[in-house]
Amino acid sequence: MPLFTPLTLPCGTILKHRIAKSAMSDSLGDGTGHPSEAQTALYQGWDAGGLAVSIIGEVQLTAGFAEKPGNLVLNAASDLSRFRALAKAGQQNGSQLWLQLGHAGALSYAPTSNPIGPSALNLDGLTCAEMTIKDIQAFPTQCAQTAKLAQEAGFGGVQIHAAHGFLLSQFLSPLFNKRTEVYGGSIANRMRILLAAITATRAAVGPSFPIAVKLNSSDQLEGGLSEDDALEVIKALDTTSVDLIDISGGTYFPGAKSASDSAGSGPYFLTFARKARPLTSKPLMLTGGIKTRAQAEAAMEVVDVIGLARAMILEPTLPNQWQAKTNPEPKFPRFATAPEGGITAWYTMAMTAPPISMEAAIENYAQRDAERTKIWINHFAK
Ligand SMILES: Cc1cc2nc3c(=O)[nH]c(=O)nc-3n(C[C@H](O)[C@H](O)[C@H](O)COP(=O)(O)O)c2cc1C
Repeated sequence: MPLFTPLTLPCGTILKHRIAKSAMSDSLGDGTGHPSEAQTALYQGWDAGGLAVSIIGEVQLTAGFAEKPGNLVLNAASDLSRFRALAKAGQQNGSQLWLQLGHAGALSYAPTSNPIGPSALNLDGLTCAEMTIKDIQAFPTQCAQTAKLAQEAGFGGVQIHAAHGFLLSQFLSPLFNKRTEVYGGSIANRMRILLAAITATRAAVGPSFPIAVKLNSSDQLEGGLSEDDALEVIKALDTTSVDLIDISGGTYFPGAKSASDSAGSGPYFLTFARKARPLTSKPLMLTGGIKTRAQAEAAMEVVDVIGLARAMILEPTLPNQWQAKTNPEPKFPRFATAPEGGITAWYTMAMTAPPISMEAAIENYAQRDAERTKIWINHFAK
C-alpha cells in the first residue's frame, strides 16, 4: 500500500496520505494550560511540512494530573479562542491537528499534583494514591468533555493515550493495577476504563469525528502488560467505534525502557503489528524507530499509517520531501552516554531551537519546567 494514498477512517474522515507525526509532549504550553506562540509556530511548521496528521501530546483533561507544566489543559475553564487559533494555524495545508487526551496517573508531575493511579504505590521516586470508584467513573466523562471542546475549537480529532505507563496504561498493567473489583484482575477488567472512555467520547463528538487510541504492544517491563494481553485489547477495540489504533511500547517508569529514549533501529513494534493485523479491521498505525522511507514502506505492508516522532523534529518537512522523492535520511545524533530521559529532553528542546549538547538540553528543560511550575501553581490555585 503506497505511502501517498488517502485513507478513509471508519468515521468517514479522509487522511490525505499515511504519514502522521505521532504524539509528542512539546512542553510549550504557557503554564496556564494554553498554547504559546512558539507552540503555534511549531505546528504551523509541521503542517507546512506536509503531514497527514499531527498529534499534540499530553493534552490534559484537568490541571490535576499533568505530565508536565508545559502541557495544554482543555476543559470548561479554558479560553477556547486560544485553542481555536492553534487549530487554525496548524491546519492550513490539509493536514489534521489532533489532540492526545492525557492523564498521567502515577506519573503525574509531582510539583503540580498529588498523583493518583489504579493502585497506591510507595516506591522510590514513585508514589501515588489509589483512585476511588468515583475518580474512575469521572474519567470517561472528562475525556468526552475535552474531546467535545477539541471538536468545537476546530481540531481534526483526538487520540486517547493508553500507552507508555500513563493512567490508562497503568490500568492495563497487572504490575500497577492490583484492584480486585471490576477494574482490576483479568485483562477484560483492566481495559474497562479505556472502553468506557471510548464510548463516552464517541457519544460526545458524534459519529464523524476521528477517535484514535495509542496502545502499548507490551510495557517491556517484567510483570507489565504482555503482548498476549495487548492482543486481547486489540480484539476488544475492534468492537468499538475507534478509528485508528496506534501501536507503541515501553514506559516512562523510573528504570524502564521508553521508545523515545531508544537508540535502536526500527520499526520497533512491527512483529506485534503483524500479530494484531488479523485480529482487527480497524486501521493500524505503527510508531517507533522509523527513520527512512524504506522502513516506512516496509511497515506499510502491515499497517495503514506510519507514525514519526523524532524524525519529524530532525526533518520537519520529511513528508513533503518523501513525496517529492528526495528521500533524505534524517541525521540522528549519536549520544555517547545519556541519562534516563536525556534523549527525550534533547529532542524536546530541539523542537524549537538549534540542537545543543545533551547536558545543556537537560538543564534548559528543567529550568523551563521550573518556570512553568510557578505559573501553573499560581494560575490553577486560583
Ligand atoms: C520529545 C518527545 C516527547 C514525547 N511525548 C509523547 C507524548 O506526549 N505522548 C505519546 O504518546 N508519546 C510521546 N512520545 C513518544 C513518541 O510518540 C514515539 O512513540 C516515540 O518517540 C518513538 O517514535 P520515534 O522513534 O519515531 O521517535 C514522545 C517522544 C519524544 C521524542
